[in-house]
Amino acid sequence: MSKIVVRGGNKLHGEVNISTAKNSVLPIIAACILSGDKCIIEEVPMLEDVFVISDILRSIFADISIDKSTNRIIIDTSNVKDCDSCSELVKKMRASFLIMGPMISRFGRFKLSLPGGCNIGTRPIDLHLKGFSALGAEVNIGHGYVEARAKKLVGNKIYLDFPSVGATENIMMAAVMAEGETIIENAAEEPEIKDLAKFLNSMGARITGAGSGTIHIIGVKDLKGSIHKPICDRIEAGTFMVAASITRSKIKINGINEEHLKPIIAKLTEAGVYIKVQGNSLIVDGNRDLNPIDIKTMPYPGFPTDMQSQMTGLLCTVRGTSIITETIFENRFMHVVEMKRMGANIKIDGRSAVIEGVDKLTGAEVKATDLRAGAALILCGLAAEGETEVMDIYHVDRGYVDIEKKLKGLGADIERIQ
Ligand code: UD1
Repeated sequence: MSKIVVRGGNKLHGEVNISTAKNSVLPIIAACILSGDKCIIEEVPMLEDVFVISDILRSIFADISIDKSTNRIIIDTSNVKDCDSCSELVKKMRASFLIMGPMISRFGRFKLSLPGGCNIGTRPIDLHLKGFSALGAEVNIGHGYVEARAKKLVGNKIYLDFPSVGATENIMMAAVMAEGETIIENAAEEPEIKDLAKFLNSMGARITGAGSGTIHIIGVKDLKGSIHKPICDRIEAGTFMVAASITRSKIKINGINEEHLKPIIAKLTEAGVYIKVQGNSLIVDGNRDLNPIDIKTMPYPGFPTDMQSQMTGLLCTVRGTSIITETIFENRFMHVVEMKRMGANIKIDGRSAVIEGVDKLTGAEVKATDLRAGAALILCGLAAEGETEVMDIYHVDRGYVDIEKKLKGLGADIERIQ
């Protein structure tokens, strides 16, 4: 198993290019099932989660070719069958549940293993299932599987009790070929939802309002293949913004969308980081006296939970008291124990982390407990005195393309040891 070793203390400088968003690519790959045709996805981040969802599609007889030299994936779903997916892979990654909506839509039936995922809470799927039921599917759970059946899906008005990203995407995909109109209310507004709708519309779907709290979908008879380049990864961009901030350095981050980064820009600016937008690039200068801040994670356009652990790491290095409140997942402070091993002073009080900034973090052997926690520990390592070894790095590989190479390119003393 590989680990990342960071020797802290180097200032970062230079430029880094951001990849396209994993959280856009995964639902888009699942959506290809709907067309029964050939789709091409360009500039795909070559990540473990992308390989896992590709293997899941192969397990239901899709033909997928991944070209790592051009970062292009060609997905032909013409041979996908009305079958079950009992693959172990489904348990590995929660996003695999996103094939449920497209499969029910195309075949009127699907059964798959209950999903797994990052170790950050119970993460139920009740809202996905509520949506499928509202569209006329009969849903049954038992023996570790979930099965949905519908003679025909019929559009309906669906109110989500919480604006779940996955449920909004899954219901949208189930509804695109349902009879009549579907309205999703209290839908998630994340940019990845808008990107998925753009892809579906390019396949012939009729979706409006994606990216807002109310999505309208007029069912169409069928969808055709399409070509798409996903949006850039706002969480990877945010992670590099924190890398500059935690090392009190100045770097340029290329390939960003300012609109998607607003909450991260706002909170880092409040902490005293200088940020300048130059078209699709950002100059981030953290070489200043930074202030403690309070952050509450919220659904988009609020502050993203996927940036919570990285910000916790940064605020550990900022004198004074900061409070981070996590409202999206109930168990997303696993990184705190690891950061404490590096000398951080953090107390957990219910859903909040109370952080007292320390003069210095110290290198230690720590464990990536989930994807973003792993990234946050690497960031702490960049600022810490001495050597930090981040173990279980496979979590980080699920969501960051070549993280150590990109940081090395910015001047960090970092290496991967297999
Ligand atoms: C997606 C992202 C993940 C991000 C999260 C929140 C992908 C592949 N993953 O995950 O990186 O952290 O959004 O921004 O895009 N919930 C329910 N019932 C449901 C579904 C969700 O109660 O049926 C709850 C979850 O337990 C959680 C909250 O809603 O507490 C948010 O989950 P959701 O928005 O669904 O996250 P994911 O789509 O799993």
